[in-house]
Amino acid sequence: MAGNSLGQIFKITTFGESHGKALGAVIDGCPSGIRLAEADFIPEMERRRPGRSSFETPRTEEDRVEIVSGVFEGLTTGTPLTLLVGNHDVRSKPYGVLKNLFRPGHADYTYFKKFGHLDYRGGGRASARETAARVAAGVVARKVLAPFHMNILGHTLELGGIRAERMDPGVIPKNPLYCADPDAAVRMLEVLEKAKRAGDSLGGVVEVLVTGCPAGLGEPVFDKLDAELAGAIMSIGAVKGVEVGAGFEAARLRGSENNDPIRSTGFSSNRSGGILGGISNGDDLVLRAAVKPIPSIMKPQKTIDRQGRDATLELTGRFDVTAVARIVPVVEAMVALVLADHYLRARSGGQDFEV
Ligand SMILES: Cc1cc2nc3c(=O)[nH]c(=O)nc-3n(C[C@H](O)[C@H](O)[C@H](O)COP(=O)(O)O)c2cc1C
Repeated sequence: MAGNSLGQIFKITTFGESHGKALGAVIDGCPSGIRLAEADFIPEMERRRPGRSSFETPRTEEDRVEIVSGVFEGLTTGTPLTLLVGNHDVRSKPYGVLKNLFRPGHADYTYFKKFGHLDYRGGGRASARETAARVAAGVVARKVLAPFHMNILGHTLELGGIRAERMDPGVIPKNPLYCADPDAAVRMLEVLEKAKRAGDSLGGVVEVLVTGCPAGLGEPVFDKLDAELAGAIMSIGAVKGVEVGAGFEAARLRGSENNDPIRSTGFSSNRSGGILGGISNGDDLVLRAAVKPIPSIMKPQKTIDRQGRDATLELTGRFDVTAVARIVPVVEAMVALVLADHYLRARSGGQDFEV
């Protein structure tokens, strides 16, 4: 079925399943002349890779990105760029139970209803492993955006009901949760430990801030920048809500409180999250993603089998206790992909940008 592509000019298609041979992305519409080497992918792939804490799946994949096409003599050629990530640490045996039983909260039931035949091993196409392809493509998108010196920075704002109260960007890479508040990170790790011991899982909120985004990205009316960013972020597994700027809080404000005054020096506040009328206004972009708790938990769960009979599911296997921290680099990648596409769309329409 179609539905594996994103973007209009900078168009990515991801492919592959969790326990298949490999997965990856094809990028069509990548401009030529961008310097790109396999080593460029390492830092971002390392940030996405599980294993930063005991609350992440112990699956160990090197996540090395192989450039299969679209680069010659170290520069992109403008032809389809194919990025391949191998699957090596595959252990499908514990997933045998999923051949017949559906995991509550996961995609097993709906994939079965829709396709009838599915690769259930490790979550198949609905696995977090698919996000490796997104992060790899996001590295290229960031290169397309390089003239703007944008900074796309994600962090864990909330986890298991604990909210970060401080925003110290320097702290983010220093803890396994990508939290900008070191005290909150400690408390988040405590609630994760409790949830793990109880065989349960936790959700939270990831925030992404983009500085250096020029005014003028986004197209009226269906391709508004906020609509496309929300769609791209919602396409990540476990993301159940997206906020832009004040988001749901704006519903409780008056116009006089919510409007960002415009001064000759710029906007005095940023409740719009940097987007007005679907077009970036030059202020920082502020986005938040609500992440649900991981569906695969170690407690017995009520479910049905493929014949519709009541059953109890008891899982073994390798799962995350939360997806929140692991989603941080994925949300950043999705934001980069949408912004790169809109930049190239604007440029192809003759729009000029001061860089
Ligand atoms: C980075 C990341 C890690 C995840 N890890 C797991 C996991 O270990 N076990 C699990 O059941 N789901 C995990 N998920 C969530 C499932 O992929 C997701 O819930 C599933 O695809 C169903 O989609 P939905 O939650 O959007 O409805 C993860 C998601 C992401 C993005």
